[in-house]
Formats: sequence, structure tokens, C-alpha cells
Amino acid sequence: MPTHGDPYRPVPYRPERIPADESLSRAAQLRARMDERRTVRQFAPDPVPLEAVRSAIACAATAPSGAHQQPWTFVLVRDPEIRRRIREAAEEEERVSYDGRLGEEWLAALRPLGTDEVKTHLTDAPALVVVFQQRYWLGEDGTKRKHYYVDESVGIAVGMLLTALHLSGLAALVHTPSPMRFLSEVLDRPANEKAFAVVPVGYPAADCQVPDLVRKTLDQVMVEI
Ligand SMILES: Cc1cc2nc3c(=O)[nH]c(=O)nc-3n(C[C@H](O)[C@H](O)[C@H](O)COP(=O)(O)O)c2cc1C
Repeated sequence: MPTHGDPYRPVPYRPERIPADESLSRAAQLRARMDERRTVRQFAPDPVPLEAVRSAIACAATAPSGAHQQPWTFVLVRDPEIRRRIREAAEEEERVSYDGRLGEEWLAALRPLGTDEVKTHLTDAPALVVVFQQRYWLGEDGTKRKHYYVDESVGIAVGMLLTALHLSGLAALVHTPSPMRFLSEVLDRPANEKAFAVVPVGYPAADCQVPDLVRKTLDQVMVEI
């Protein structure tokens, strides 16, 4: 579906304005809920309500994007054999990465997270959302059109995906095996798509542990002028 060439066609936009105290209360609740989100790397094999995952993907697809080009594809993978192939290929790349390809500085940055080349989440989590960036628009006749701000747009969409999954009670992880060309091959994606991240979705395993991380405070991340 081309997203280009439509004439400017304004429609009214009149969202309900909520009172300031209600805004404050909603913002505080959301902040507390989002502070509970953690990256999960150990999943229970229990099934998840797939409609909730599909809704979270639909929510991600409401993200703003450069020139409204919506340059994303979300591949929802449930097939255990495909998940096994993804894990096998990812671990092959990760082995090389952890054996030195990442370099000492990167490996040192990862050490507090306790990660290694074993990626059980790719087969334990009942669903994987593999996010692809559409680097350009590709028409059925092979026509190409440039997409703008693809990294930024897809990054925002993935943030919204994580938020939607978390608020729906599901756990997730952003996994970025590097390089991730194998994902295009295993999932048979077209030439204009480039893998951005794998997002395993599920429930934390009964014995799930997460690193004891400290988030920066508001004062540390915000400057008011
Ligand atoms: C762009 C991006 C790439 C990431 N890649 C990986 C990854 O490949 N493997 C992994 O275990 N975690 C990965 N993470 C998860 C981060 O390590 C995690 O978000 C961070 O340690 C903070 O933990 P929290 O999400 O529990 O707050 C990634 C996160 C982001 C945003």
C-alpha cells in the first residue's frame, strides 16, 4: 500500500480535555506501572493470550513515523521449529560475539547483565515478535521509494510495543543478535526489510531473576529551561 501522493486532507481532531488533577493522577499511575517493567530473559513455556500480543502489535503500529511512512513489519512467530532455527542461528552469531567480536569494552558493559551466548528465551517464550524496518517502500512492480527516519520511527514503535505488552501483563525482551541477517532468511522477508530486533513475549519463569539495576532519577535525565 503506497503511503505517498495523497492530497492534504484535514479532518477535525477534538480529543476530550481532561482536568489537570486527573492528568497528574494518570501520569503518576503510569509512571509507577512502567517502573515495574523489567527485561525478562527466562520465560515460562506457558502459552500467552495471542490476541493480547496482536493488540500490542496494533498499538505499536499507531506510532508516529517519518512522513507517516509506517516503515515496519512485525512477524509474530509461534511455530516451535522456526523458533528453534532462530535460536540456533542466533546462538551461532552470539558465540562469535562473546568469544571476542564485541571487543572488551562492550563485553565489560554487558557483564552486569549476566548475559551470555545461550539464548533459551528464543525457544522458551511461546511467541517471538520479530521487528523489521522497511528501509524503503517496494512496490509490486519493483518500484522503490525512499523512507525517512526509519531507525527513529521503528525505535518508537518498539517502545510502544514494549509498553503495550507490559500493561497487558506480558513480559518481553529486546534481543538484538548481531549481525541479524539470518532473520531475513529464516523468515523469508523481502529485500527492502532489515531485521531490527527480536522481542520474545511470555510470562517470566517461576525462578526468573533479573539484574539488580538502578534507573537514573528524573533529575539525572531531565534538564528544564
Ligand atoms: C536497543 C536494545 C537492544 C538490546 N539488546 C539486548 C540483547 O541483545 N540481549 C539482551 O539480553 N538484552 C538486550 N537489551 C535489553 C537491555 O539490556 C535492558 O533493557 C537493560 O539492561 C535495562 O533493563 P530493563 O529493561 O530491565 O530496565 C536491549 C535493549 C535495547 C533497548
